Amino acid sequence: MRPLTDNPILDFADDAFRFEPYVDVLHGAVEQAEPLPLTVGVFGSWGTGKSSFLRLWERRLKDRDVRTIWFNPWKYDRKVEVWAALLHTILAEMEGEEGLKEKALRLAKAATWLSVRAGLGTAATVATGGVIKGGDVDSLLTELSRGDAEQYRQINRFENDFRDAVREFVGAEGRLVVFVDDLDRCTPDSAMTVLESLKLFLGESQCVFVLALDLDVLAAVATNKFGDAFRDAPAEVVSGLAYLDKIVQLPFFLPDVGFDTLRTAFAPWVHRQVDGPAFWRLLQRGLGANPRRLKRFVNVFNMALEVSIAQSGSTAPGPVFHLQLAALLVIRSRHREFFHVLAADPTSWERLATYFRRMGDAADSRERDRYRSELPDELAPFRGDRALEGLLAAGGAEAVPAPSAETVRSMISTLRATAGPDDLGSTDG
Ligand SMILES: Nc1ncnc2c1ncn2[C@@H]1O[C@H](COP(=O)(O)OP(=O)(O)OP(=O)(O)O)[C@@H](O)[C@H]1O
Ligand SMILES: [Mg+2]
Repeated sequence: MRPLTDNPILDFADDAFRFEPYVDVLHGAVEQAEPLPLTVGVFGSWGTGKSSFLRLWERRLKDRDVRTIWFNPWKYDRKVEVWAALLHTILAEMEGEEGLKEKALRLAKAATWLSVRAGLGTAATVATGGVIKGGDVDSLLTELSRGDAEQYRQINRFENDFRDAVREFVGAEGRLVVFVDDLDRCTPDSAMTVLESLKLFLGESQCVFVLALDLDVLAAVATNKFGDAFRDAPAEVVSGLAYLDKIVQLPFFLPDVGFDTLRTAFAPWVHRQVDGPAFWRLLQRGLGANPRRLKRFVNVFNMALEVSIAQSGSTAPGPVFHLQLAALLVIRSRHREFFHVLAADPTSWERLATYFRRMGDAADSRERDRYRSELPDELAPFRGDRALEGLLAAGGAEAVPAPSAETVRSMISTLRATAGPDDLGSTDG
C-alpha cells in the first residue's frame, strides 16, 4: 500500500490546492514593492501548506532568475546565534560570486565580531546571553550608542556594507529574496532574535524576507515576551499581531483549502475497499480540512484496515466496519479522554451513543434529567461534547452504528500495532 508522503511540495505540477494564483499575486506585489527591504509574512496554521507555498514561490523566482536563499533557523541553537547564522548564510551565497568574495568574507568577519559583542557588550540590560532582548530596536540602538560607541559604529557600518554587497550581488534594480521557514521550530527567544535582527542589521538592503509563520505559535511567543505590556489585550493573538506589525509589512494568509479539494487530492490513496460519501463526511466532521492531519489519518487508517482484513479470515470487514474504524481513529486523535475511557471499558461507545440519541429524542426536560442522572460517572465529562456527539450519534446516512465491545477491543489492539501506543502521534505537531 502506497503511503502518502508529508513533505512540502516543490513544484507547480503537484499543486493540488491551487496555490499558484496566490503565488503570482504575491510575486507581482513584491516585484514592484519599494522601498526595500520588505518583510512578507506567510501565515497559516500547523500543516496547512506554508512551506509548500514558499517552495512554489521560490520556484517561480528561480524561473525568472531572481536570486533566492533558503534559511532554516531551527538548525542553529542559541549558542551559534541564529541571526549571525542568517547573515552567514546570505554572505556564504555571495562568496560564491566572482568579485564579491572579498567583501563577503569581510562582512562575515564583522558579523561574527558583532555577534560576540552583542553577547558580551556593555549594554547588558538589552543584550544578554548572546540574545538581543527587548522589542524596540530604536531603544536598543540608543542603548548601544550610549554604552558602547564602537559597537554602534560597527553596526552602522555593517548595515551600509551589507547594503552595498547585496546591491552588487543582485544589481541596482534586483532583489534578493530570503526565505525563512520554520521560525516556530526555534526556541521562542531565537525566533524573536531572527525577527529583530532583520530590522537591526539589514536596514536598507535590497532584500525581501519571506517568513513562514504559525500565528498561534507566534502569538504565544510574543505574549510570553511582552506579557505585561499586553496583559489587558483582548486576545493573545492581538498581542502577537501587534508586535508582528512592526516587522511584517506585507502579511499574507494562506487560503483555506476546502475539504472537497482535499478529498479529491487524497481519495486515490484511501484503501481500495473503502468507498462512499459517509466515510468522507465522517472525516470532514471529525478532522476538518487540515491537509497534514488528513494525510496522517489516511496512512494509519489504511494500515489498520489492512491488518484487520488479514485477521478477519473469510469474512472481510464491510462498510460499517470501515466507518467504525475511521471513527475510532478520529476518537484516538481528537478525543483523547474518551479514547482512554473506551480502552478501559469498550462498552462505553455504545452507552454514550445511546445517551446522546436518547437525549436528542427526549420528549421533555424530565426525561432528559432522568437520562442525565443515569449516565455513569466516567461518561459524565462527555455529556456536552458536541463534536463527540456528532461522531457517535449522527443520524440518517451519517450514522456510525456502535461497534460491539469485542470489535472495539480488537480495533484498539490493531491501532496499537499500527499507530503505536495509545498516546503516540495522537496530537497535532
Ligand atoms: N498546494 C499543495 N498541493 C498539494 N499538497 C500540498 C500543497 N501544499 C501543501 N501540501 C501538503 O500538505 C501538507 C502540509 O504542507 P506543508 O508542510 O507545506 O505545511 P506547513 O504549513 O509548512 O506545515 P508546518 O506547520 O509543519 O510547517 C504536506 O503533506 C504537503 O505535501
Ligand atoms: Mg512548514
